Formats: sequence, C-alpha cells, structure tokens
Amino acid sequence: MAPATVVPRQARERAERLRQEITRHDYAYYVLNAPTVPDAEYDRLYAELQELESRYSSLVTPDSPTQRVSGTPSSGFAEVVHAVPMLSIRTETDTSDAGAVSFDARIRRDLGLGPDAAPVEYCVELKFDGLAISLRYEDGVLVQGATRGNGTVGEDVTANVRTIRAIPLRLSGSAPPLLEVRGEALMYRRDFERLNERQTAAGEKLFANPRNAAAGSLRQLDPSITARRPLHFYAYGIGAVRGWRIPATQLELLEALAALGMPVEEHRAAVRGAAGLTDFHRRIGALRGELPFEIDGVVYKVNRIDLQDRLGFVTREPRWAVAHKYPAQEMVTTLLDIEVQVGRTGALTPVARLAPVFVGGTTVSNATLHNEDLIHEKDIRVGDAVIVRRAGDVIPEIVGVVPERRPANTRPYHLPTRCPVCGSAVFRDEGEKVARCTGGLFCPAQRKQALLHFAGRRALDIEGLGDKLVDQLVDTGLIRSPADLFKLGLTSLAGLERMAEKSASNVLSAIDNARRTTLERFIFALGIRHVGESTARDLARHFGSLDRLMDASEADLLEVPDVGPVVAASIARFFAEPHNREVIEQLRAAGVAWAEVGGHDPRRAGPLQGKTVVLTGTLPSLTRDEASEMIRAAGGRTSSSVSRKTDLVLA
Ligand code: IVH
Repeated sequence: MAPATVVPRQARERAERLRQEITRHDYAYYVLNAPTVPDAEYDRLYAELQELESRYSSLVTPDSPTQRVSGTPSSGFAEVVHAVPMLSIRTETDTSDAGAVSFDARIRRDLGLGPDAAPVEYCVELKFDGLAISLRYEDGVLVQGATRGNGTVGEDVTANVRTIRAIPLRLSGSAPPLLEVRGEALMYRRDFERLNERQTAAGEKLFANPRNAAAGSLRQLDPSITARRPLHFYAYGIGAVRGWRIPATQLELLEALAALGMPVEEHRAAVRGAAGLTDFHRRIGALRGELPFEIDGVVYKVNRIDLQDRLGFVTREPRWAVAHKYPAQEMVTTLLDIEVQVGRTGALTPVARLAPVFVGGTTVSNATLHNEDLIHEKDIRVGDAVIVRRAGDVIPEIVGVVPERRPANTRPYHLPTRCPVCGSAVFRDEGEKVARCTGGLFCPAQRKQALLHFAGRRALDIEGLGDKLVDQLVDTGLIRSPADLFKLGLTSLAGLERMAEKSASNVLSAIDNARRTTLERFIFALGIRHVGESTARDLARHFGSLDRLMDASEADLLEVPDVGPVVAASIARFFAEPHNREVIEQLRAAGVAWAEVGGHDPRRAGPLQGKTVVLTGTLPSLTRDEASEMIRAAGGRTSSSVSRKTDLVLA
C-alpha cells in the first residue's frame, strides 16, 4: 500500500466523486424508493471505490459508503447516556374512535380551550413496529447510533447502524453542529420472509416476526451479520440539537429532516380535531395490510411545538402525543391439538386447534399449519404456547412457539400414516411438501371430486352429472363410490330437489351409456395422481388389459414410454390400495366394460378413425391443442413426428 503522501490528485478527486455518486444512489434507492441506476452499475462504482481505497488507504473517510461495515465484532455494547431522554408514548388501547376522541378532549382541556375554540391541529404519523434508535450527527457526520435502552441509558450500536443503507452517513444540505435524529429501525415484511427462508436453509432458528428480526439484527455483536440483514429506518423526531432552528410544527420538523436526507415515511399529515384523527386512524387501518412493513397503530402529536412545550410531560410520557392502536395481529395461546383435514384432492393439511384467543379483531380457535415440514421447521408441538397471527382477512396462522413456555413431555409432531377419513395409506412424493391420501375413489373426503372427475367429458362422459347433482347425491348418501352410480334408479333420482323426471331419466340413460367405454377412458377416470389423458392412453396401449395394468410392478410401468419413476410409483400405489381395487371390482360387476384395445370406440368413430396425423407449423385459426383435440374427436391420433405410421401431415 502506498503512503498517504503520494496519492495522485486524480485518484483523490475520483474517489470523492464516486463517494458522492454512490451516496446519491443509496439515497434514491433506500430513502426515496426510486432506484437511479441498475444494480450492476452500482456494483461497478462500488468496486471501483473499494479498489481506490485499498490502493491509497488515506482516501478512506469515515463517511465513505465502503465503511458501512467496518471494525471487528465487539464483546458487548458500550453504554450511551442519552443527552435528551428517549421518551415513550402513552398508548390508547381502545381501538375504536373513542381512543381518538378522548385524546382530543384531554388536549383541549389541558390547553384550556372552550367548546367554541377552533379545532386543535395534529400531526398524524404511523406507529412503526420496530425499535427506537437515536442517531447523533456532529457537523453533519454520523458519529453514534444508540438503542433506546431504558430511555436514559442505551447501547452503542454505531457499527451496526452504519450498515443500514437508509441511514445517511452524512447529512445533506447545511447541517448543524449537532443534531440527534430519532426514529424507528424496522424490517420490511418481504425481507423478513426472505431472511427466514435463508435461516431455514442454513438450519438456523426462525424469527417470529419482523420486529424481533430487526431487534435481533441490530443487537448483533458482529456488524457484518447486521449488514446482511436488510434493515430500514424512518425518522420521527429529534433529541439533542445545537445550532439548528427547530421548526414551529412537528410536520415541518419532519419535512426539515427529509430535507437533510433522512428517510421520513410518506403517510404523514396535519389534521384538525377529533374528526381528523379518527379519519386518519380508519384510513390507515384500511391500508395497513398493503404497507411493506408492520405498524401496530398510528401516532397523534399536537402539531405546534410551542403547544407541546406548554403541555409538557407526565413522568416519561409527553402529554401532547398518543399512540392509537389497531387490534393486535399476533397473540399467544395454547395449541390444544393438531388435527388433519383431507381436501378434495386428497391433500392432508394439519390444522391447529387452539385455546380461543382474540386476535386481529376476532376470536380465533383454528389456524392452518400448512404442512408437516413447516411444523418441524418451527418445532411446533401439541401443548406449546404458540404465537397466532391473523392479518387482515387472511387465514390465521401459527408463526412460532414460545420455547420458554413449553411444558414437559411434549413430543415432535408426525402426520398420521393412514388417512384420518378413510384409513387408506398416506404417501408423500419426494420433494413435495404435501402428503396425500391414496384412497382416491374410496375416500369420502375425495368422493365428490373423484365422482366429478369420473363423470367428466374426457373420462366416462356422463352428461348431466355436474357439480350440483354430485353434491346432492353425495350429501344425501345416495352415492358413496362411482360404482353406486350404476345402481341409481329413477325414483331415487327424481326424488332429489329440482330434478324433474325427464332430466332424471336423461341422466340415467347417460349413466347407462357410460357402461360402454374404452380402457383408456376408464384408466383416466380412475383419477390416479399424475395420470392424465395421454398417460392413460399409453398405459392402455402398452398393457392392453386392466388386469395386466393392475398387476404391473413399478419396473413394468417404467417400460411405458413417457412414464417416469414418479408416475410409476403413483400408479403402483394406487393399485396397491385394497380400497381402490374394491371399487374397480364393483364397477366391473355393475357392467362397466370396454372393447379390447385397438377395437372400435363408439365415441371415437369418425372420419379420421384409425388415422395418425402429424401437425407442423402454425395453423391460421386454431391452436395446436385445439387442432389435436378435433383430430382425436374425429377418431384420429396425433403424433409429433412423421414416420411409417403417419397417414396425414397437416402443414
Ligand atoms: S415519537 C415523544 N413517533 O413508539 C415520543 N414514536 O412508546 C417519542 N414509535 O419506542 C416517540 N412510531 O420507537 C414516535 N411515529 C412515531 C413512532 C414512535 C413508533 C415507537 C417509538 C417508541 C414507542 C413510544
């Protein structure tokens, strides 16, 4: 490294220009949320500055953007005595309008305003759900960052605070000799989710919410860890100042801080009287879920600073401010049990049964647990004290447990190996999060879905057997499995609501027609997972008979073109389930039958019967899928390449 004295003028000037440019981009990106350059360009400028600084160490200034992460992990945080104590705000927990109305009434009384006096003006802000910090700028340069601590003494987190890109290392404009800026450090929800994904991948513990993540990140002894945690900052006030004219109102104070380059949140306003407060509270309440970060309320401050001074403090809380809350979105309660629901597609979803708790404005006693992996990641156990979250109208979920409150003798949770509804085996494909019941045709939970699929146009094609009729048939208990369809009589069918005798007999004849089908349609109708129409066709052609298919091993199945291990395993599992074999036997006993493969398909008879057609290029009025479907409807087959078997080429 060259000694400081020989730094060429050019290098010095270039470094200065780079510092200014990078600082400008940081401000645009982190404070204004309006990036000015592509990431790659930013990275290039940053690398160039780093290179210059490592060549000439005297070029490194404390406010250089490269110095956001510097120094070594400390063994603990030093104490910082706040020159001006960091106060807290009184919290109004009545989340209705009354919370705002009573604050306004109190202010009017304390200011000695009669009923005829003009409405009081308030500055209204968001109540950020992060942690308070104080930033000390001397001659415009950030020299110290501190946590609130007990309000009088906090912790010196300067090295960590410097890694927060939204916080300027140097104030812009004409900065006073001393200015302490106070505000909230927080983590955006989306960054919090990503952080937790990274924590999962690294096998590290998960954070319960963005606030904990922000606090945990800021109180890291190693600033290089903080630097990897995407924290944000919003200024809302000041502490000690020297040589600065304090604006006349809180709103102007916020504008002045913004002019110095501090990030100030945009939902700030001046409003008048109780009506202005309740309006703001409601308006923000409605868009709370769309904010990129969490808030737990709004803050009302008497706007005029001279009136603030007149109102003064009670103990550690100013009389001129109040936080007006929203219903809590997170609460702790006891996990009484984990039950498993089986969906229409056989997916098993664990559901938490909770001791009822008031959260997000309603009483919650169930919450989704999504899947087994998630339960293991968060190590959620029956009996645990769990954190329940309900934000807006979304389904309540369990965000984590309170480990200190875990009772003795809890055990890790495992999904049942048998379907809680039908007793069939449960399986889970490798790499899949969702476990499923294999009792497709048999499982009552899947009954409606299985029947609709079975009767579908591309399966047994039973006209008139749609959603509504299936609902009625299953709900009245007339039908338990597809085989029961063929036992239906006119009286029972016509007895259903809104079912005239004529349409009942139409449905019956459609069911009767469905007895004569093809093997490929029958295989497709079974609803085996991963077996679509074309796989069903391949299986029918390959095995030629249902019995041979049912007896095929996974190895046999793998011989079929386009059947891979996942599909083969799924088919083998389906036929291994005795419940499914039972239903198939019942269907055969009911007279469902098909001509041997390659034989005549009554539904497929048409001008292209037995012909193989190859489609190439684009067609003027049809998609290729539509054209293929028309060819198949006319009895033909489509193939992707021309061979000896090709009868027609459509170009
Ligand atoms: S002003 C004079 N404004 O709420 C009052 N505080 O109990 C000083 N907070 O931990 C605070 N949003 O971090 C103020 N817009 C806001 C705020 C806010 C969140 C936090 C603050 C403190 C707590 C006050």
